[in-house]
Amino acid sequence: MERVAKFLKEAGTYYLATVEGDQPRVRPFGTVNIFDGKLYIQTGKVKEVSKQIHANPKAEICAFKDGEWLRVAGTLVEDDRREAKQAMLDAYPSLQGMYSADDNNTEVLYFKDAVATFSSFTKAPETVKF
Ligand SMILES: Cc1cc2nc3c(=O)[nH]c(=O)nc-3n(C[C@H](O)[C@H](O)[C@H](O)COP(=O)(O)O)c2cc1C
Repeated sequence: MERVAKFLKEAGTYYLATVEGDQPRVRPFGTVNIFDGKLYIQTGKVKEVSKQIHANPKAEICAFKDGEWLRVAGTLVEDDRREAKQAMLDAYPSLQGMYSADDNNTEVLYFKDAVATFSSFTKAPETVKF
């Protein structure tokens, strides 16, 4: 999981795919934090992406860096604990102008039953489960 978080941080931007009915939705994301042994992302409850995850928590992210790409497929689980939100905001001080742990909008979600696959054109894919 640490390798996955490191890759996502170094890539800077990853793309988060959700589903809305039979329509895939994808958008750029950047937040990633390991807290309590789990890999978290952050969003706002007011966003469509959050509503989609609550309707169907299956999601996949993809990032590319230095000739290698990473896909993480799994289920996103909301963690409403204040400390989980604060840990994310502490990792991203730039978010603190827009979000706070008590604003009823900030949402952190962790990956459950995640399958992470590192791929490149030159090596066999490597899979990590967490
Ligand atoms: C580089 C980059 C990183 C972003 N990271 C996040 C993020 O971590 N969390 C988030 O909620 N929005 C993030 N955004 C903004 C979302 O992409 C944007 O709000 C998007 O419209 C949300 O998807 P939705 O319209 O389907 O709700 C980021 C945008 C960019 C350009």
